[in-house]
Amino acid sequence: MALKKPFTGIGKTYKNMKITKICCIGAGYVGGPTMAVIAKKNPNIQVTIVDINEQRIAAWNNPDVSKLPIYEPGLAEIVEETRGKNLFFSTNIDKAIDESEMIFISVNTPTKTYGKGKGMAADLKYVELCARNIAEVATSDKIVVEKSTLPVRTAQAIKSILHNIGSQVNFHILSNPEFLAEGTAIEDLLNPDRVLIGGESKIAIESLANVYGSWVPKDRILTTNLWSSELSKLTANAFLAQRVSSINAISELCEHTEANVNEVAKAIGMDSRIGSKFLKASVGFGGSCFQKDILNLVYIARSYNLNEVANYWEQVIIMNDHQKRRFADKLIKTLYNTVSGKKISMLGWAFKKDTNDTRESAAIYVTDHLLNEQAKISVYDPKVPKEKVYSDLNYLNTRTEQENQDNVIINDNPYDTVKDSHAIAIMTEWDEFKNYDWKKIYNDMKKPAFIFDGRNVLDKSEMNKIGFEYFSIGQ
Ligand code: UDX
Ligand code: UDX
Repeated sequence: MALKKPFTGIGKTYKNMKITKICCIGAGYVGGPTMAVIAKKNPNIQVTIVDINEQRIAAWNNPDVSKLPIYEPGLAEIVEETRGKNLFFSTNIDKAIDESEMIFISVNTPTKTYGKGKGMAADLKYVELCARNIAEVATSDKIVVEKSTLPVRTAQAIKSILHNIGSQVNFHILSNPEFLAEGTAIEDLLNPDRVLIGGESKIAIESLANVYGSWVPKDRILTTNLWSSELSKLTANAFLAQRVSSINAISELCEHTEANVNEVAKAIGMDSRIGSKFLKASVGFGGSCFQKDILNLVYIARSYNLNEVANYWEQVIIMNDHQKRRFADKLIKTLYNTVSGKKISMLGWAFKKDTNDTRESAAIYVTDHLLNEQAKISVYDPKVPKEKVYSDLNYLNTRTEQENQDNVIINDNPYDTVKDSHAIAIMTEWDEFKNYDWKKIYNDMKKPAFIFDGRNVLDKSEMNKIGFEYFSIGQ
C-alpha cells in the first residue's frame, strides 16, 4: 500500500532519520536481551521495553539483577549498567509507543491451539494487537520493526492495520528477525554473524542499520526485501533443526551397527562443506523456535498446495518426535520392560544448557511418557524453578495436576534427587553434570544402577568402571 504522504512526521521532521527513542513491545527472551544490548551500545538512544505482564516488568526492575525474569549469561551485568540510564522497563505501553520513533514488536507467536491451522500455523493475535495499539496511539510517524518470527507476508497484514486505523501518521514496516540462541544470546548480539533487515523504505532501513552500526561492522548488516527477510528466518531455523534431526537419525543407525555417532559427526563435520556445528546427537531438539517455525513453514507450503515441500520439512519434526519417544522406550525396555513404581531421576529440565527456558524441552515429553508407565519421577535442574516443571506437565493435560504433584518431586540438590533411584536420565547438557561425584551417586542408587545419557555428556568407560549400566545416544 502506498504511503499517505512523505515521511516527515507530525510535529517532528525526520530529516536524517536519527533515532532518539526506541520502544520494544514484549519483554521476553528476545526483547529483553536485544534491547539491553542496543541500549548499551547506543547511550544516546533511550530504550523502553514494555509488556502487558506486570509481574515480568516488576522482575526486570528488581534492584537485585540476579532475579531478572530471564537467565542469560552476561545479561544481568548489561542491565545493571544501563537500567535507569537509557534502558527502562514499563507497563505504560501507550506512552512508550507515542514517544518513540522506532517500535519493535517482540511478542510471542505460538503455534495456534484452536481453529484453522490448529497445531501448525502461527497465532498472530498478539502481533495484530500490537499493530492496532500502535495505530491507535501514534501521533507521529513511526518505524515499526517485526522482531518476532512471523510467517511470510505478515508484514502485509501489519501494514494494512497500521495504514487503515491510523490518522495522519505514516508507518514504515521493517522485518529484522533475530538469530540469537538462548544461552549465548548476549554473545550472539554483540558479535552477530549477520544482522538482517528487510524493508521497502531506504530511509527506514538505514535508520535501523545505524542503530546496529554502533557496534556491528557494515558488511555484516544485510538488507533485503521484506518477504526474503521473513522467509530467511524460518529457513535458517528449519536448516538448523534439520541438521539435528539428520544426525539423530544416524544415531539410531549407529546403535545397531556399532558405529559411534560422535565419531561420525566429527568425521563429517571436518568436511568444510558440511561444517562441525549442529551435529550433536541428542534426545531431541527443543526450544521455542524450531518446532514452531517448521510447522509454520509446512503450513505455508501446504497453503500453496506444495505438498512435497511440506512433507519434506515435516519429516524433521517427525524424526524429532521419534527420537524423544525412542529414548523413553529404550529406558523402559532396559529396566526389564517396566518402570511402574520405580524412581527415575531427570537431570536437567531446560531445553539446553545455560538457560532457564523449558519450552518444548525433551524432558517434558520423556517424563510424560514415563508417568504414563506409572514411574515416580524426581527432577533436578540448576536454573529451572520448581513451579515451571509442574506447569510444563500440567499444560500437556495428560493427567490431573494432583497426579503430577503426587508422582513428580523436584529437588534443589542433585544428590537428593538421585538417591534410591533405579535410573538417571540426563536431559540437558549442563556442564556441572560432568563434575558430580558419580561414585557417590552410584553407591546411593538401586542396583543395577542405570544411566541414560540423552546428551552424551559423560564418559562411557568411566561410568562402566564405576559399575553403572550406561546407555547414551548413538554409541
Ligand atoms: C519472541 C517470539 O515469540 C518468537 O516468535 C520469536 O521467534 C522470538 O521472540 P520470546 O521473546 O522468547 O519470543 O517470547 P516470550 O519470552 O514469551 O516474550 C514475549 C513477551 O511479550 C511476554 O512477556 C508477553 O507478556 C509479551 N506480550 C505478549 C505483550 O507485551 N503484549 C502482547 O499482546 C502479547
Ligand atoms: C534457535 C536458533 O539457533 C536461533 O538462531 C533462533 O533465533 C532461535 O532458535 P535456540 O532455540 O535458543 O535458538 O537454541 P539452539 O541452540 O538452536 O538449540 C535448539 C535445540 O537443538 C536445543 O534443544 C539443543 O539442545 C538442540 N541441539 C542443538 C542439538 O540437539 N544438537 C545440536 O548439535 C545443536
